[in-house]
Amino acid sequence: MGDLHWYPGHMAKAKRAIAEDLKLIDVIIELTDARAPMSSRNPDIDAMANGKDRIMVMSKSDLAESPANDIWIGYFRDLGLDTACVDLKSGAGMKKVKSLLAGAAERKHEKDKKKGIRMQRPVRALVCGIPNVGKSTFINSMAGKNIAKTGNRPGVTKGKQWITVSKGIELLDSPGLLWPKIEDERAALNLALLGSMNDEVIDRERLITELAGILRERYSSMLSGLYGILPEDDREAVLSKIAITMNMLQKGGQPDIDRAKHYFLDSFRGGKLGRITLELPG
Ligand code: G4P
Repeated sequence: MGDLHWYPGHMAKAKRAIAEDLKLIDVIIELTDARAPMSSRNPDIDAMANGKDRIMVMSKSDLAESPANDIWIGYFRDLGLDTACVDLKSGAGMKKVKSLLAGAAERKHEKDKKKGIRMQRPVRALVCGIPNVGKSTFINSMAGKNIAKTGNRPGVTKGKQWITVSKGIELLDSPGLLWPKIEDERAALNLALLGSMNDEVIDRERLITELAGILRERYSSMLSGLYGILPEDDREAVLSKIAITMNMLQKGGQPDIDRAKHYFLDSFRGGKLGRITLELPG
């Protein structure tokens, strides 16, 4: 989980570590969270990629709204990035990722041929992304077993191992760690809502207000179906209706607002409210 405090020193270390990894590879597989694909990216990767082949993978697409996933796929494709949506819990979308990877390998082989390189070495890929985006789960899914080492501590020395994904294609077993865009307030807020950033960074009360606001604006029928919440209900009314529906009552029968707050945020993070996307392009 978002257990990291990101100090400039950590970011510099992570940047150096990923720059070292990038020297070894041909293809960058960048993971982003489908519920907030822009907030959960780190744009520095664009500069660091330095013309390498790229694949964009939107993880946790099972938790995000399906039409929104399609909009984001179109957005990234317009940026020139091969993109796939995956649900790493079920493995949905992994076939697509493998076919995109095969395409990248093909391009690399063609390039090598043109340069007159005959002895083809395996095409090598690196998975990268911010903490909690699903990097280890993705690598394990690619490997078909539990092998991914955690990449959540920048600068941890680890021996590099390669996983054979298919003939002539290899994946580095440890992910490249990107640091979150904490200086961007909207991004930090979305990451905190997703639970990908320490809850201390943004006050929980603020998160609940924001979440209630987003859901009232864009998912009002979801809220009304689950808890009878109306568009005009304010934050207190929202929490009170949740407490009453979930039978979270204090001794005197009053709604237990504190319990409702925790339940609301945790249910969102766990996808129990339904499929929700926090941001759309633009
Ligand atoms: P990281 O290496 O990038 O830090 O992320 P990691 O793979 O550890 O994944 C972080 C959490 O996100 C894990 O949950 C993982 O199961 C979950 N996750 C990853 N991809 C998906 C996805 O596509 N859909 C859903 N629904 N969840 C995903 P956890 O709570 O830490 O553990 P657990 O629930 O697996 O026990």
